[in-house]
Amino acid sequence: MLDLQPLHPLIGAEVRGIDVRDIDAVTFTALRAAFETHSLLLLRGQDIDDDEQVAFGHRFGPLEPTKIGTLGAGSELVILTNIAADGTILPETHRQALNTLANRLWHSDSSFKRIPALASILSGRTVPAVGGETEYISMRAVWRELPPAMQQRIDGLVAIHDYAWSRGKVDPELASEAERQALPPVRQVVVRTHPGTGEKSLYLGSHASSIEGMDIASGRALIDELIAFASQPRFVYTHAWQRNDLLIWDNRCTVHRGRPFAPAAARHLVRAAVAGDAPTVAQ
Ligand code: OGA
Ligand code: MN
Repeated sequence: MLDLQPLHPLIGAEVRGIDVRDIDAVTFTALRAAFETHSLLLLRGQDIDDDEQVAFGHRFGPLEPTKIGTLGAGSELVILTNIAADGTILPETHRQALNTLANRLWHSDSSFKRIPALASILSGRTVPAVGGETEYISMRAVWRELPPAMQQRIDGLVAIHDYAWSRGKVDPELASEAERQALPPVRQVVVRTHPGTGEKSLYLGSHASSIEGMDIASGRALIDELIAFASQPRFVYTHAWQRNDLLIWDNRCTVHRGRPFAPAAARHLVRAAVAGDAPTVAQ
């Protein structure tokens, strides 16, 4: 039995009494089940290094190789940091800092890939004393509360998700030519069914650029309307980081975003993404 404490009425649970470096098979099965149910798990006091994070990630399944153009490329970890190699804080205009700005838009990790990520595992190595929170929304809860007429209208729609599009919201040049080549736009269903629980959820975020079968303007208006509905404060859990917090979330049925913090504050997080097993729709 896991010691689970809810984080928010609609999403998340803190799991107490576990060290992720040393979890037996029975406990891992319970943790995996809690992940299906709660969509977001918090484990505090996980003082892990990169290898331990990768090893823990592999218990969920294969990890995504980090894409080109991202800090950590060539490994199975993404480094989200504003600390330069020499220990100084990077200016906010640095490319790495601009990518952080793109993370401040609601998104589901890797929805710009043909097979998007199942889970993300994020470790808070250095966190600001104030600000720099990460926020989460249960898109299952959002689906349940959408008006039935809207549910009917969007169930079955397909959106185009495009990495260059979401980066372009921060800076039209942010996605490099190599990234554009590696990450062409992909199709994703707008409403996903969770294989674990059978529940439906809205599947849209910053990477969604248009809706198939709708003209560009109407598609974008619909995407914006749905994200505005989803991000009403009552749906949002705000995670205030403590050092060595480990968050695990289900990208199939949640969106998240980073929050601002003082430019002089150091923030260093490390993320592994557990690969998904199938596209949400035929390409
Ligand atoms: C991520 C992410 C937001 C943050 O790790 O995938 O979007 O708060 N992080 O850094
Ligand atoms: Mn993310």
